[in-house]
Amino acid sequence: MLQNTLKRISPILFNPKLVEVALQAFQPTASFDEIRATVVAVRKEIHDTTSITLKPNSLFKGMKSGQYARVNVEINGRRVGRTYSLSVVEGSALLRFTVKQIEGGAVSTYINSNLKAGDTVVLDSIGGEFTLAKAKTSTLQFVAAGSGITPVMSMLYTLEKTAPQTPVQFFYISRNRDNRIFADELDALAARWPALTLINHDSDTQGVPTAEVIAAALPGFGSLSTWVCGPRVMLEGIQPFFSAQPELLVTETFMPPVFAKAGDDMGPVSVVLDNLNRSFTTEGDQPLLQQIEAQGIQPQNGCRMGICATCTCLKVQGATQNLLTGEISNAPNELIKLCSTRALSDITLNIEL
Ligand code: FES
Repeated sequence: MLQNTLKRISPILFNPKLVEVALQAFQPTASFDEIRATVVAVRKEIHDTTSITLKPNSLFKGMKSGQYARVNVEINGRRVGRTYSLSVVEGSALLRFTVKQIEGGAVSTYINSNLKAGDTVVLDSIGGEFTLAKAKTSTLQFVAAGSGITPVMSMLYTLEKTAPQTPVQFFYISRNRDNRIFADELDALAARWPALTLINHDSDTQGVPTAEVIAAALPGFGSLSTWVCGPRVMLEGIQPFFSAQPELLVTETFMPPVFAKAGDDMGPVSVVLDNLNRSFTTEGDQPLLQQIEAQGIQPQNGCRMGICATCTCLKVQGATQNLLTGEISNAPNELIKLCSTRALSDITLNIEL
């Protein structure tokens, strides 16, 4: 009898995934290999932006201020994720990610409308170079627009804790106070931390600031370590101020790049998704990620702007072009990022779902 029972349960006992699923019935964050986290709190910051506070399991080994993680949620039985930046002090036991709802964005909409305390999310793809490790001067400057505040908020809290004597100047652009994410937190931080100079710029009343306006508000702009997080057009305006010392400028953008057409107009080409036994013909020069999604297929992805590498897949054969760098890949069996690559010829891919 014991032998029969063991025979019946042995496939469960010796299959880690099944054991994990069984454990998750009692402890939803139990896992042998995934950073699963309990949603401890959900807070509306402003009308279209929500912060989620998470308690990760013991597989989480930390992340730096300014870094991002992919937050995966389950929508209609399917796991989907997007990358979001940490918005609390580095080293905090509870993590906080702040998510602006993007029109048509499945994950940001789900987090803003459906996610609740007690739910479980999965974190992966932790990384990013937008960190305080890039500091090179004794005074530090920050510029953020809208939801670009998220990684900066984490860095400000970390500086307050680890280097409170460091002079820090922060130029923050939002439409008005009602649209200013963390307005109260920033006021409280500036009130208790004398080294912080907070400059709130409301574009409704003061206009969208040019790079010259920002430079005029920040003494020494262009000669001090500066972190800028905002739309690409703002970053591009600021870059010339750092032409003599580009190493002082650290940037991150939350808007996908506008991909230039990088060559002659292409006719339609065929895309074979070898491992899925599917194929289709491209239309236009859209990145492969969008072309594949238009077929109702959802490849793994995160930032959708060529940074996080989540969408990396194997190009088995054919020619592709990186839309950010213009680089062409002709050789077989090369890795490409679907979100920032277009097909130049008939191609065959193996993609991760
Ligand atoms: S989704 Fe992040 S690099 Fe493609």
